[in-house]
Amino acid sequence: MSAPIVSCRALTKTYGQGDTAVQALRGVDFDAAAGEVVMLVGPSGCGKTTLLSVIAGVLDCDGGACQVLGHDLRGESAAAKTRLRRHGIGFVFQSFNLVPTLSVAENVAVPLLIQGEKRRLALERAREALVPVGLADKALALPAQLSGGQQQRVAIARAIVHQPPLIVCDEPTSALDHRTGDQVVALLRQLAQHHQCCLLVVTHDNRIFSYADRIAEMDDGHIVAIRDASPAIGS
Ligand SMILES: Nc1ncnc2c1ncn2[C@@H]1O[C@H](COP(=O)(O)OP(=O)(O)OP(=O)(O)O)[C@@H](O)[C@H]1O
Ligand SMILES: [Mg+2]
Repeated sequence: MSAPIVSCRALTKTYGQGDTAVQALRGVDFDAAAGEVVMLVGPSGCGKTTLLSVIAGVLDCDGGACQVLGHDLRGESAAAKTRLRRHGIGFVFQSFNLVPTLSVAENVAVPLLIQGEKRRLALERAREALVPVGLADKALALPAQLSGGQQQRVAIARAIVHQPPLIVCDEPTSALDHRTGDQVVALLRQLAQHHQCCLLVVTHDNRIFSYADRIAEMDDGHIVAIRDASPAIGS
């Protein structure tokens, strides 16, 4: 088995307190390795985004253990977690979180700029990352000038521009038509294999299941089943 990238044990997370408390994670065990594509599926509200957010170090869990890229997230300082996110993790969130006042290329360059890359070089690499998502001609546009699907592809280019060892995607094809969604997930899978990065994808889109190595089913704060998926033909 390849190097473990994510290892969660008995992970719990509750939002709020008292009568209004919502137990979003109720003891999740989950592992993912380098070079692997794992899709996370389950009904709305079952805890998928919460799990992804804990793994990505943007949300603290309350109990259990969560190791990511060799770091024990529960023992890490906020500064160490920020470093881990900057260098180790690429994100595609359900809302695309593009900066409205920056051009498409500048948005994609953000992970490189906060790593300290020189602006000219960062923009050059950002333009290269826009090619495989089919947006090379939109580099100078503002996010508001793009369709929802195009904005989603900008978010994907931004997640991969610094080639992080872990990429987490929340519904990366929700705003894309079938053909574009297929292309984008094929690209993500190719990257995972080529750079041996680990790709975690929350999705409701069963048309992209064939790009997964494994499919983890969540329900009511638990992972209830993990099954192998047949990889896409030719991948
Ligand atoms: N910030 C929050 N404050 C309070 N409750 C929250 C918060 N975020 C999520 N929840 C609750 O936690 C549970 C899990 O939410 P989560 O967003 O992880 O679900 P999900 O599986 O991603 O759903 P969806 O498929 O609709 O995106 C839900 O009951 C939700 O209402
Ligand atoms: Mg969600």
